[in-house]
Amino acid sequence: MSAFEKEQTFIGSFIHTNDRGQLIIIDHGAIHVKEGKICNVVINPKPNDIKGDVTVFDNNVFLIPGFIDCHIHAVQFPNLGVGYDKKLLEWLDTYTFPLEKKYTNKKFAEQVFNIVVNQTLMQGTTTACYFASLYSEASVILGQVVASKGQRALIGKLSMDAVRDDNYFESIDTSVKNIKKFVEEIEVLNSPLIKPIITPRFALSCSMALMQELGKLAAEKSLHIQTHISENTDEIKAVKEKFPEYSSYAAVYDEARLITNKTVLAHGIYLTDAEITLIKKRGASVIHCPSSNTCLKSGLCDVQKLRKEEIKIGLGTDVSGGPSCSILDAMRSALDVSSHLSMIKDNYEALNYKDVFYLATLGGAAALAMDNQVGNFEIGKEFDALLVDTNASPGLLNDLQNNTLEERFQKFIYSGDDRNIVQVYVNGRKVK
Ligand code: GUN
Ligand code: FE
Repeated sequence: MSAFEKEQTFIGSFIHTNDRGQLIIIDHGAIHVKEGKICNVVINPKPNDIKGDVTVFDNNVFLIPGFIDCHIHAVQFPNLGVGYDKKLLEWLDTYTFPLEKKYTNKKFAEQVFNIVVNQTLMQGTTTACYFASLYSEASVILGQVVASKGQRALIGKLSMDAVRDDNYFESIDTSVKNIKKFVEEIEVLNSPLIKPIITPRFALSCSMALMQELGKLAAEKSLHIQTHISENTDEIKAVKEKFPEYSSYAAVYDEARLITNKTVLAHGIYLTDAEITLIKKRGASVIHCPSSNTCLKSGLCDVQKLRKEEIKIGLGTDVSGGPSCSILDAMRSALDVSSHLSMIKDNYEALNYKDVFYLATLGGAAALAMDNQVGNFEIGKEFDALLVDTNASPGLLNDLQNNTLEERFQKFIYSGDDRNIVQVYVNGRKVK
């Protein structure tokens, strides 16, 4: 019997949210997992609630749902922390595209992707929505590495047909042929945890004809779609110049049927009211990437406004626009940006630790249209979880403070790190 086929019961404290983003704290409960799926949740369990392999956790640890990184560029890992002297468009040309061109080397790809998947799992990312490579072979390698390490993921081969002097693009015919082949190759891996995602890089990298082909393919195969939108003011200006016949950035994607209820739009800092209305109507989501938005000086995204408009929002590390692959770091960046906004805007209530925890778990799951599958510990969902021990790093000083469970949870959100994530489960299987 493989690890995730078995029947397991986890007994201890757990914390998650409901779909209204309210925090649910259970001091003593049991989660019964069968073949990776949660089949029962009991508060104050009795002996006959306990089935299969039993794991009883100490009082000083607690389970939370696995983190969901809704926007991360696997190929950009070797540039973590480099190049924040430039803003988006110059940063892409100077640092990002030259690195990404190296992924014709399959050995290099394999080396990097092994580190990417190990590191993200160790940081508690149980689901990742990856931008992989322009090159199909490297993108399939990412799929293979993810599948072998047991992470849940959407894997996107980039589509880009805008001609560049450095040859970093594909002709439209090659691009369409390669994306169809890539989708099949990911499907052939036959891993229940991974899926392909259609990935036009952004409007500046793609012709309308290519985007329309991608929209058509996504519709035919009911695939997820991801791209960037309204991240930087120079980018928005260039999109207007490239596509003058459309009323907005979002309207360009909409013309190609790229905005659907399975679309994730990264950044969305400068979306107009009309664009927000369109995105809401289509049921697409916006991915907040606060660390990247700060490092590349892209702007301060008003997440509260998007929340009020009932846009689905997830969190992204946006490696390497962001300097860390940790969703905990992204949560803190989101708190910082929101706190800064509250100091410069009237009547603006900053996000709190509960809000960012929701964004990192169930909110991210909803943004990826996977909230019937993961995001919290509801019966019927797959068991993706982190075991948190706030005593695992000396700095949090719980022993001296006798903190409550909710205080320890706050300490983890604000001041914890990967040392405090002592176990990681994906689909019931322990991967850390
Ligand atoms: N827009 C187009 N490509 C990229 C990218 O790689 N990173 C970020 N942050 N924005 C983009
Ligand atoms: Fe990005």
